[in-house]
Amino acid sequence: MTSTPTTTPPAAQVPDAAWEEVCHLDHLPRERGAAALVDGVQVALFRTHDDAVHALQQYDPYSGAHVMSRGIVGSRGHVPTVASPMYKQVFDLRTGACLDPVGREPVHLAAYPVEVRDGVVLVSREPLPAPGAP
Ligand code: FES
Repeated sequence: MTSTPTTTPPAAQVPDAAWEEVCHLDHLPRERGAAALVDGVQVALFRTHDDAVHALQQYDPYSGAHVMSRGIVGSRGHVPTVASPMYKQVFDLRTGACLDPVGREPVHLAAYPVEVRDGVVLVSREPLPAPGAP
């Protein structure tokens, strides 16, 4: 079996039972977000230009709406980012860390390990440890 490497290193630590198949990679547009349900939780999936896939919580804490999948994908240096479609706060797609709170207190998003196996995108039911957590 072949397996496409992921850019989220902690994925290797996720036990098999914790993954949920959400989508075919081919069905995700590049540089765009898509909404998915993982274990009943709304998640925003992002496929970047290099075919890496990232998953963040769909809930935007600044606007209180489930809109992150409609955010604007971009980058800051080598960091892939998404900006909230509401108030434009910018988050690291890999960790959910808030990189620009637009004058507000920084609030991080939950980020989920993602793996692509045989063209199928799997998302962990357990988020990564919060940025800055031990
Ligand atoms: S849109 Fe086709 S599998 Fe997700």
